[in-house]
Amino acid sequence: MSQPDRLWINVTLFDGLATAAEPMAVAVTNGLIERVCPMSELLVGEPAAGEVIDAEGRVLTPGLVDCHTHLVFGGSRAGEFEARLEGKSYEEIARAGGGILSTVRATRDASEEELYQAALPGLEALMSEGVTTVEIKSGYGLTVEDELKMLRVARRLGRERPVRVITTLLGAHALPPEYKDDADGYIDLVCNRMIPAAAAEGLADAVDVFCEGIGFSVAQCQRVYVAARAYGLAIKGHTEQLSNLGGSAAAARAGALSVDHIEYLDEAGVIALAEAGTVATLLPGAFYMLRETRVPPIELLRRHGVPMALATDANPGTSPIFSLKLMLSMACTLFRLTPLEALSGVTAHGARALGLHQQIGRIAPGLRADLCLWNTSNPAELAYSVGLPTLNQRMVAGEPA
Ligand code: NIG
Ligand code: FE
Repeated sequence: MSQPDRLWINVTLFDGLATAAEPMAVAVTNGLIERVCPMSELLVGEPAAGEVIDAEGRVLTPGLVDCHTHLVFGGSRAGEFEARLEGKSYEEIARAGGGILSTVRATRDASEEELYQAALPGLEALMSEGVTTVEIKSGYGLTVEDELKMLRVARRLGRERPVRVITTLLGAHALPPEYKDDADGYIDLVCNRMIPAAAAEGLADAVDVFCEGIGFSVAQCQRVYVAARAYGLAIKGHTEQLSNLGGSAAAARAGALSVDHIEYLDEAGVIALAEAGTVATLLPGAFYMLRETRVPPIELLRRHGVPMALATDANPGTSPIFSLKLMLSMACTLFRLTPLEALSGVTAHGARALGLHQQIGRIAPGLRADLCLWNTSNPAELAYSVGLPTLNQRMVAGEPA
């Protein structure tokens, strides 16, 4: 065996799905994980590594994956937060032209540079807690040019910071005022102009929709899925967040990587996810901010073997929360996930929700060496405590970053 670039020894390994029973060693070469083995199998006199790091029992996990964010946006919705505390509902505010549409106005008014500068603190907050891959959606432009503007900002964030950015076109997020009373006409624009333009410029990895009474119907979302697939783009859905329209099952049947929110998902929907291999993405930040009381069907998802991802949904309306570590805690306290289920949600299953499970999200030979070393020897600590700076080292493609 040639000499690895870096070798971690005496590691408590959470590999994305489970915790190893004994102290482990992990070798990295050329940015990839080369070998994962128990310490007892490291041979005396084996070629040394360029750098040997003694973890002294600390937890090593895959770099964290935040598979659902809206990090690029203009303005703030603190006023709407106050209105909701006074009793107005998210839906009422949306139907009165506020909510998503108020962020649309601010985002259209902002330049690419302004959006970039505004997004950086949120991105850096996520990175400081161990995020090495983040998905960023558009959806606050709602014109061809403004959606592409948002996606360009997202791509630039990934070029200029040591983090992998996956971009998702969310043109079907809300009905813009120009198309009032013509939702089908707007869906025509999404399918015939936005998706082709985003694909032509290589700006989108996936396409998402908001399938809801205040969003788009199942039939309209299905049209978006067909158009996205025609351009080779992956699909995802915001589904069953406020009501049960059957949007998750429709997305799964269309081959969606994930369906997200899913508080109102029923057993037929869960079975559709299981049959299609679609990931269920839990967003406890939005559940918390909207003071939702209906919990996603965790027990049904477990019973049918549907992988559960976990993400911040960072956005100015329903989840102005830029901490994936807080989501680990919330998933356990609010949704009763186990700490290890929550950790899988931000590693192995988060990667699967982005279609990247053969590249990231696990600590296994051949995968990219995106890794986090934590100041604890117990993986459950990562979901248990909030606010402590527990990250010891963040590695992107095998390099400290
Ligand atoms: O994931 N549900 C729709 N979209 C976002 C919220 C967007 C907003 O309110 O600005 C979500 O909750
Ligand atoms: Fe969202």
